[in-house]
Amino acid sequence: MQRARFLAGWVLLVVAMVALAACGSTTDDGGGGGGQAAGGGAAGGLPKLAQKDSYTVCFPQTEENNPWRLAQTASIKDEVQKRGWKLVYTNAAGSAAKQVADVQSCIAQKVDVIWLPPREEKPLATAVKSAKQAGIPVFLLDRNVDQSLAKAGEDYVAFIGSDFVEEGKRAAEWLIEETGGKANIIQLLGTSGASPANDRRKGFEDAIKSQSGMKVLASQDGDFNRDKGRQVMETLLRAHPNVDAVYAHNDEMAIGAIAALKAAGRKPGQDVTLVSIDGERAALEAIVDGELGASVECNPRFGPKAAETTLAFAAGQTIPPKIINPDKFFDASNAKENIAAAY
Ligand code: AHR
Repeated sequence: MQRARFLAGWVLLVVAMVALAACGSTTDDGGGGGGQAAGGGAAGGLPKLAQKDSYTVCFPQTEENNPWRLAQTASIKDEVQKRGWKLVYTNAAGSAAKQVADVQSCIAQKVDVIWLPPREEKPLATAVKSAKQAGIPVFLLDRNVDQSLAKAGEDYVAFIGSDFVEEGKRAAEWLIEETGGKANIIQLLGTSGASPANDRRKGFEDAIKSQSGMKVLASQDGDFNRDKGRQVMETLLRAHPNVDAVYAHNDEMAIGAIAALKAAGRKPGQDVTLVSIDGERAALEAIVDGELGASVECNPRFGPKAAETTLAFAAGQTIPPKIINPDKFFDASNAKENIAAAY
């Protein structure tokens, strides 16, 4: 009798141990692919990532039409190559719909992990959820998704990037200082529906609220694009000839605006003060030339941080929901010495 009870006890213990091991297991077949259950044991119900020597990383880029994007892609490619991992790279060419399809294609290819720069906040939130359902962990790089649709620690692992609200605030503070708190401003907005456009607008507009002399005459979408920035500036300049300041959500649009101002016989840097965001080489050169006043850095070199965070996640470490890049600030005092390292 005693022997039967002892044996039954052992059977129960073994069953419990097998169940526990199954709950905490990781796959070794390529990490995310192969249908790992979302919510299969990791904190917040995130898919798990196995610890392996090599990963297949999906990087569905938004577009490749400006130096910032090219620098970001180069950083990702360098890092993946340096580590001997595999990269599935696509270029959505400025289409959120294409980027969603590119994520779906990565899911079908059973990649291990997705490093996603979501072009727009809403459409890409759905793609993030599809990846979670397929058991593939997603890290958001540089842009965010709509937080009412998808959340860090639940639907994706974390956001890695700059504080865009802070960037807008820093641009506003510089402009207030530079103009003595009096400016008639044209705001060139980034891509409509993109998190940096929403946040840079908020950061800037909140910061100038207390200044009665700072007026935004007009705000229009220039899609983070040099030529669109030039065209929008041309149109707005005709409607608002009293403009004496431009806040552009990225350097490319500021450079487009400088071209439009010159074509209209205005003197950028003298009768119109410009401030923008990114810190690309052409912007630093424009600061040295006295045409652009300042540029708040938005660092595009994500490769090392994305890889380190992915490895930390695979090792079971707790990943904070937001990992914020420290950004510099460029103006006439330091632009020249930073040109050599710029992209
Ligand atoms: O998401 C970051 C922004 O996207 C950069 O400021 C811009 O240049 C890029 O296209």
